[in-house]
Amino acid sequence: MKPKNTDVFFSAQSFDEPELRNKVVVVIDVLRATSTIVTALSNGAKSVIPVGDMGEASKISQSVDSDNYLLCGEKDGVKIQGYDHGNSPLEYTPEAVKGKTLIFNTTNGTKAIKKAAGSPKVRIASFLNMSAVVDSLIGEESDILLLCAGWKGRLAVEDTILAGAIIHKLNNGTLPDDATDGTRVAFGLYEKYGENIEQVIMKSNHAARLVKLVGSDDIEYCCRRDICNLLPVLKHGIISINNG
Ligand code: MLT
Repeated sequence: MKPKNTDVFFSAQSFDEPELRNKVVVVIDVLRATSTIVTALSNGAKSVIPVGDMGEASKISQSVDSDNYLLCGEKDGVKIQGYDHGNSPLEYTPEAVKGKTLIFNTTNGTKAIKKAAGSPKVRIASFLNMSAVVDSLIGEESDILLLCAGWKGRLAVEDTILAGAIIHKLNNGTLPDDATDGTRVAFGLYEKYGENIEQVIMKSNHAARLVKLVGSDDIEYCCRRDICNLLPVLKHGIISINNG
C-alpha cells in the first residue's frame, strides 16, 4: 500500500494550528525535548505534561502532589532555577523518574507539541525511537505531517534530518513523484548525510550552543538510533506510551 502524503513544517512558528487538523502529526525535537521525553518514558516515567511556558508549568505544579510529579525543563538550554530536572535526557534515569509524571517546559519542543494538540493523532519522535514511529505510520489513512520544533522559528538541521529519515524509511528509500517541497528538502538532506548523522548534527547551530553549556554527551546520545522501542502519543494534553 502506498504511504500517505507527507509534509514537513520546519519550526513551531511556521504554521497555524488549523493546518494540522485531520493529519497525523509527528513532533520532532532531536536536541533535546523529544529525545528526553522518549528516554523518560522508556525509563518508567508514567507520563509527561508538555507546557507552553513557566507560568503554566508553575500553575500545574502548584495543583498536584509533589511526590508524584516532577517539574522539568529548560530555557535557552539551561535548567530553570527551582526545577527538579533540566532537559538532558541523561538525567532521566529509572531512579529519577519511575512512576512520576513530568511537567515539562522547554524552549521550542513543548511549544511545538502544545501547538499540535488539536490534531487527533500526535506522536513523539526522536532517533531513539525512530522505527517505532515509522511502524506506527505504515498503513495510516490520514496525511502525515512531520512537525520539526526548530529553534525560535528557524530550521534546525537535526530535526530536518530525522524528518527525512522517517520519510525515507516510510517510502522504502524512494522519493514519491508528488512529494511536497518540505518532503523533498528533508528527504534530500537525509540522502546526503544519512550515513554521517552524528557528524552533521555535531556541526549544527544548536549542538554548538549545547556544547558550550553542557558538553557533547547529550548530543551523542540523541543521535543513537532505535534504542527505545516505544511510541509516545499525546492524548488530552498528556504524553504517555501508546498501548494499542
Ligand atoms: C527545546 O525545546 O528547544 C530544546 O529541547 C532545547 C534544549 O536543548 O534544551
